[in-house]
Amino acid sequence: MIIELKNIEKININDFQKDLISWFIAEQRDLPWRKDQDPYKVWVSEIMLQQTRVDTVIPYFNRFIEWFPTIENLAEAEEDRVLKAWEGLGYYSRVRNLQSAVREVKEKYNGEVPNTPEEISGLKGVGPYTAGAILSIAYGLPEPAVDGNVMRVLSRILSIWEDIAKSSSRKVFEKAVRALISHEDPSAFNQALMELGALICTPTSPSCLLCPVRDHCHAFDEGVQNELPIKTKKNKTREVHLAAAILTNENGNILIHRRPATGLLANLWEFPNVEVYHPMQTEREQMVELFNQSLELNINLEKIIGQLEHVFSHLVWNIKVFNGKLNSGFQESDEWKLVSLEEMKEYAFPVSSQKMLKLYLTHQ
Ligand code: ADE
Repeated sequence: MIIELKNIEKININDFQKDLISWFIAEQRDLPWRKDQDPYKVWVSEIMLQQTRVDTVIPYFNRFIEWFPTIENLAEAEEDRVLKAWEGLGYYSRVRNLQSAVREVKEKYNGEVPNTPEEISGLKGVGPYTAGAILSIAYGLPEPAVDGNVMRVLSRILSIWEDIAKSSSRKVFEKAVRALISHEDPSAFNQALMELGALICTPTSPSCLLCPVRDHCHAFDEGVQNELPIKTKKNKTREVHLAAAILTNENGNILIHRRPATGLLANLWEFPNVEVYHPMQTEREQMVELFNQSLELNINLEKIIGQLEHVFSHLVWNIKVFNGKLNSGFQESDEWKLVSLEEMKEYAFPVSSQKMLKLYLTHQ
């Protein structure tokens, strides 16, 4: 495929780099992963930042690096502790892949994050964006690091009308970065594009009057900055109805369940729940039946303590939350545990379970 970028020749590349980088040096946010260029820390931060906002990431990043300061520490850590460090961040396969990849770096590369596109891209969970971010930020190599923010910024600067929701569009923007990137300071250049996307060239109402590269921007020149980028809507998310229960035994301990090792929220802990296919027609008695049959539990449900919604990228869980009692004769196993509230702090739960626990505690 031949990619044409009609406006690239019209940009004064030297001036563009200078304007962008000097703005970044003056205005960049003080972020914990910018304190040094340790490739491991850059890697952790980029994985965390993939689907999560900077403000949310900061405390998670600090704690993660405190718990696992080196590749060696993360490679040797228990998966449960790693999941606990990620608890609440979502997209948990990110951290499972990170730990597998770090183990590979330890075994195959003597604990040094590789610095070639081929080797680094072979690591689990390291896609083209992450590879480019580590190579440019930690190793100073002129590689593109194109995520949604960078596509938005460049679609405006170069007036590119490709649909950024299509995965094939990334190549177009990588080509643009290869043409524009500073070879003197690829790290500052790529981070400056990200920073511009976060602070100035925002999705709605970009602050063009404050923009350091406004004079280079074709969308601003044409007055179309609010029409770009082109981004078609994804398919609608599927809605799943669940009934979940916080069940206590005669000692007041709470029943928790470990999710399967693969699939959504793999290996995280949760409160027992079942999918309800006809939520409007399903009475509480039928819910009890569902729990008793599909989970082989012998329980009584007391009342509904609340209803909550949890949105994933492709799925919405609509959950009715019950409290109830677990009848005697229950046997604990690897997947089913009875724990006190204090013990529960050692287990990693997804946000939906944390919301349920809050509901339960306000109903006590
Ligand atoms: N978003 C993605 N990577 C980032 C970084 N290194 N700094 C700030 N925001 C980012």
